[in-house]
Amino acid sequence: MKKYSRITGTGSYLPPRRVTNADLATELAAKGVETSDQWIVERTGIRARHFAAADASTSDLGVQAARQALEAAGVRAEEIDLIIVATSTPDMIFPSAACILQHKLGIAGCPAFDVQAVCSGFVYALTIADSMIKTGAASKALVIGAEVFSRILDFNDRTTCVLFGDGAGAVVLEASDTPGILASDLHADGKHVGILCVPGTVAGGKVLGDPLLKMDGQAVFKLAVGVLEEAARATLAKAGKTEADIDWLIPHQANIRIMQGTAKKLKLPLDKLVVTVDEHGNTSAASIPLALDAAVRSGKIKKGDTLMLEGVGGGFTWGAVLLDF
Ligand code: UT7
Repeated sequence: MKKYSRITGTGSYLPPRRVTNADLATELAAKGVETSDQWIVERTGIRARHFAAADASTSDLGVQAARQALEAAGVRAEEIDLIIVATSTPDMIFPSAACILQHKLGIAGCPAFDVQAVCSGFVYALTIADSMIKTGAASKALVIGAEVFSRILDFNDRTTCVLFGDGAGAVVLEASDTPGILASDLHADGKHVGILCVPGTVAGGKVLGDPLLKMDGQAVFKLAVGVLEEAARATLAKAGKTEADIDWLIPHQANIRIMQGTAKKLKLPLDKLVVTVDEHGNTSAASIPLALDAAVRSGKIKKGDTLMLEGVGGGFTWGAVLLDF
């Protein structure tokens, strides 16, 4: 049995509708909601985001990213023996987006399930796939982060609706004799459930409670900066590495100020930080694999580079994965 897991291909997909801050500000102004390109850029670093068409689901976005990752890895869909989709905006309550995506890929039989850890979902899913490969339960996994957050935004709340976007990213993770994933570190603290949540649910055929995203931005900001540093340091320690070994930091893309703050705390030059928040906004579980794929396709990330992936979000959840690409 092979001892490690390694990413052998990446892919991503953004829905075609690109909405700039100015476009969004104009749309919101028509509803009496005031915002500006300047406020959004200064406070978040976001310049644009993509919104999915009304009939596009998470599995639609995810399957496009998955196909690209399979092609990059040179793996046929039939060879995949595990599918994990990280999402908080699945196509339906059940079955999972992963099962629907599996069918769209034209395959059947392998285990397929969703992981719900909000913006930390991709690092959770990658860690689960790595563990399953290391125990021999799988050998070629598709790990996907996919979201249609535009569906759960309150477009009357300017403090949240300007922040998020839709998209999907994917990797093929294969059993390998060499690492691969070096270490990971996952956490959650449910006492913070109220600072970032979609409190509504479905019961008795009706939506019960508010089905739109609520966030205490400042509380999330403060927690995020602290836990991202801790998770990175814990992961480096587990792998017997130091900050100096990191070639690229790929944090969850929520706010450029949080991302740069994390890089500074880790004493990493800002040119080692992969940034896509400017063009994607916060795509929750999709943000890390989207950023990874963008950096791979632009030629920034090369084979053998050491990457630190970090997620943080609702739950509260957080975690990191260190890997040799
Ligand atoms: O994905 C999970 C992780 N999520 C995050 O990491 C988000 C973390 N939090 C943040 O990124 C920031 O807290 C925000 C970007 C959400 C907010 O930035 P901030 O610097 O914390 O702003 P604030 O909430 O302190 O608001 C400052 C002002 C307020 O006005 P007053 O009370 O000072 O008059 C807000 O009403 O900015 C106002 N404001 C806006 N103005 C124009 C809030 N949203 C907007 C807006 N346009 N869209």
